[in-house]
Amino acid sequence: MTIIKRIALAALLVAPTFSIKAQIIVAAESKQNALVLQVTPKKELNTLYFGAKLGNAGDYSNIAKQYRYISSTGEADQAYSTAGNINILEPAIAVTHADGNRSLALKYVDHKTKQVSDGVTLVSILLRDSVYNFDVTLNYQTYFNENVTEQWTIIKHREKREVVLNKYASANLYLQNNGYWLTHFNGEWAQEMHPEEEKLSHGIKTLDSKLGTRADLFQPPVFMVALNKPATEDEGQVLYGNLEWSGNFKIDFEVDPNNNLRLIAGINNHAADYTLKPNKEFVTPKFVYTLTDKGKGEASRNLHRWARKYKVVDGMGPRLTLLNNWEATYFDFNEPKLTELIKATKNLGVDLFLLDDGWFGNKYPRNGDKSGLGDWDVTKTKLPNGIAYLTKTAEETGVKFGIWIEPEMVNPKSELYEKHPDWVVKQPARPEYYMRNQLVLDLTNPKVQDFVFNIVDDLFTKNPKLAYIKWDCNSVIFNANSATIAHQGNFYTDYVFGLYKVLDRVRAKYPKVPIMLCSGGGGRVDYGALKYFTEYWPSDNTDPLERVFIQWEYSYFYPSLTSSNHVTDWGKQPIKFRTDVAMMGKLGFDIVVSKLEANELAFAQGAIKLYNQFSEAIWHGDQYRLQDPWKNDVASVMYVEPNQSKAIMFNYHVSNRYRSASIRPIALKGLQADKMYAVKEINLMPGQRSSMPGGTYSGKFLMTIGINPVVSDGGRASVVVSIEEAK
Ligand code: DGJ
Repeated sequence: MTIIKRIALAALLVAPTFSIKAQIIVAAESKQNALVLQVTPKKELNTLYFGAKLGNAGDYSNIAKQYRYISSTGEADQAYSTAGNINILEPAIAVTHADGNRSLALKYVDHKTKQVSDGVTLVSILLRDSVYNFDVTLNYQTYFNENVTEQWTIIKHREKREVVLNKYASANLYLQNNGYWLTHFNGEWAQEMHPEEEKLSHGIKTLDSKLGTRADLFQPPVFMVALNKPATEDEGQVLYGNLEWSGNFKIDFEVDPNNNLRLIAGINNHAADYTLKPNKEFVTPKFVYTLTDKGKGEASRNLHRWARKYKVVDGMGPRLTLLNNWEATYFDFNEPKLTELIKATKNLGVDLFLLDDGWFGNKYPRNGDKSGLGDWDVTKTKLPNGIAYLTKTAEETGVKFGIWIEPEMVNPKSELYEKHPDWVVKQPARPEYYMRNQLVLDLTNPKVQDFVFNIVDDLFTKNPKLAYIKWDCNSVIFNANSATIAHQGNFYTDYVFGLYKVLDRVRAKYPKVPIMLCSGGGGRVDYGALKYFTEYWPSDNTDPLERVFIQWEYSYFYPSLTSSNHVTDWGKQPIKFRTDVAMMGKLGFDIVVSKLEANELAFAQGAIKLYNQFSEAIWHGDQYRLQDPWKNDVASVMYVEPNQSKAIMFNYHVSNRYRSASIRPIALKGLQADKMYAVKEINLMPGQRSSMPGGTYSGKFLMTIGINPVVSDGGRASVVVSIEEAK
């Protein structure tokens, strides 16, 4: 693109200067999309195009001349916009050089393309400042079949002294469309993922967080932008994005005077001026995105496929069903009680018993949330025979055993705090401020990293049969400050790098063991974390009606096998409704099994068997959101096995209005039109008879007319349907 100054406006109308020819064009292409960059004769790297792939590679060089921009915004299309030079919009990078100068002008040096693996290509472009010895490498890793790109930046300098990075974004996209509809999410504890859609107006809309230990409590690092018009489930061009970073993030959407969208995503630079030594690489987190012209459904299936194949730990593998004791006992348990729960696990028919918070601390036993956190020795009065006894009991009972930890945190009332006050994040001269009576350990400190790694390592070393970990994180960072680092501006960023160093060590030694990412809700989930975890906890709110909405929203971005859904006593719904909702992901229970009525227990046992039969569709299949709970009386979601021979459909009554029900059939998706499918209601309560018109139908019929699951309030508030190829 050409810069056209306002003063040249008159001349421009007769003689626009659009004739600058691109010397080099660099394209990162997937099956459907192309991100095309061009090197200008002045060696600047600009974004030429981002959108659906064009027919011929040569077409890209014809794009620029079709635009007649009138603006004084400078180089609005810089591929990685800098501060202090000719860019006068929001920059992706801002630095203070060793000599105090604050300008940066990056020029193209070279680029290379590498085949990382089958279907995965990495384009790396080296840019260098024209005055300072300062390099930036832009990386675009494309997953061809999934139409997903990960973008990140490597910053390195060879100046005489340290340089301060005042801003260091991962990616800077530039879209030229007729309007942008941003969907973002807000929430609070137990109210996660409330969607809001707005048309972006001129200026900057920022999504960000400053929580330190997690990305989200109020706003997750995921979003979608529909281009040209709002997108629906099956129509419209839409971009999904997520910063792969488990801490403070900032995503700016700037609609510039030419109505183009500059999207800059990265670590939040708030209170995070980063001091970088000479010759040391700073690698930003990845920003992952997918673009489709077939609506929100395809965008989410793109991300799901990519996540399962390339990102989530054991994404192509199975998941363990479990019984958790948190809501059954809270902190009040002992060996006999747990032994009973282990037996109940077997009786219920799930794979694993998960012992939650409250098993550790002796000087200050963890009998509540005010003490003991940080003291990871088993409480002798509660569990005299240790964890080993419990894992053995589980093994003898025929189930696996898992355990809860919250290794980054400390209660002030703990031996850990007494011994290592300098390991705690706090302002030395200010009063401590707590979230859930606890403080955060300083993971920028390598000794703390060792401590946290050893908590996990000791558990596995002493209990080789341990099969699962729930890794919790219940505080944000207040009073951000480290007792040991040289530059406090590095603190927030190095905290997350410290966490990732620990998790790298855990995964190097225990590559596949299932670990749930928990944060008093889904506040911690992002694709940076899911690289280390098998699943996440979407919300402490397990009221199933609430969960229909919460899980619906998460499902745009994260595949269902990562969503830990537990049946609890939250909400007013019967066990069937609660279990059906929890089945739409990784099924678990957190109830007192012995208090279930006989028919409830029989139902739950049957549901677990059914869940196992349909787990291939739920875990590894394609998900279709059929009917939106926000807009309909009945919400409906479907999972289809990759070979389209078997599917499961979940339907929920989500309205209190008079006569609200599934009046019309709901059209299915993702089947083969010419196959015949047997359709029937499953997961009924013992003795319950289905009133749904089951039968054998063609895929075409099911996807054109659909079926009516006959959902209404009362006994048919939740209906599960199987769709299996009729042989
Ligand atoms: C918060 C989690 O969300 C709960 O499931 C439970 O593990 C508690 N922490 C334990 O303290």
